[in-house]
Amino acid sequence: MDIKEAAAREAVKYVEDGMVVGLGSGSTASMAIKLIGQKIKTEGIMVTGIPTSSASDLLARAMGIKMGDLDDHREIDITIDGADEVDPRLNLVKGLGGALVWEKVVAASTRVEMIVVDDSKVVEYLCQKVPLPVEIIRFARETTARRLASLGCVPKLRIAEDGELYVTDNGNNIIDCRFNRIDDPKSMESRINSIPGVVDNGLFVGVASKVIISNQDGIRILERPVQG
Ligand code: A5P
Repeated sequence: MDIKEAAAREAVKYVEDGMVVGLGSGSTASMAIKLIGQKIKTEGIMVTGIPTSSASDLLARAMGIKMGDLDDHREIDITIDGADEVDPRLNLVKGLGGALVWEKVVAASTRVEMIVVDDSKVVEYLCQKVPLPVEIIRFARETTARRLASLGCVPKLRIAEDGELYVTDNGNNIIDCRFNRIDDPKSMESRINSIPGVVDNGLFVGVASKVIISNQDGIRILERPVQG
């Protein structure tokens, strides 16, 4: 079995009849959406999905999952989502897929945020391998990029595959910020979000409840340490 599928399959075991389920974005979360669709058919359970992107919404509908929205479902039982990096405290970098704003909103209403990754995503510190995605409004892109750079990163406006500026589901752009490392993600998350023109950034601090990590040898599950 594909290692991403193995992580997704483990997470889907936690989905039960009657649950409201947040549906993540990216290839691993998409695998989970397909498996939830299959589970609904084979086990005859009822699940309401809440999307984290227009892509996950489309896929879920195609898989026959009944979809709802946050205004009707204020509490989500479980969300299954991917991540781009996971540190030892289960803090995350997300948003390489461009869906970080909806992902963070959905996570904030979720009781159990379950992250599914292969072990290439496990790092010692955040931004070890990937840049930090920051969603910004189109107005004053250069000014916003300069202010981001003053936090110690090299900002780069994201370009889509068609060569045009990348546009999110919210009609905004993304600046990918290359940091050497981020040692205090909570502080950096709020410093970035206090820059005018920034919508949100891909640091997810204290959000993940469980991280399911797969590799060729199997699965391991990490749980967020209790804050003390
Ligand atoms: C989407 O915006 C991201 O946060 C994804 O969760 C992330 O890119 C993981 O995608 P893969 O599972 O495809 O690596």
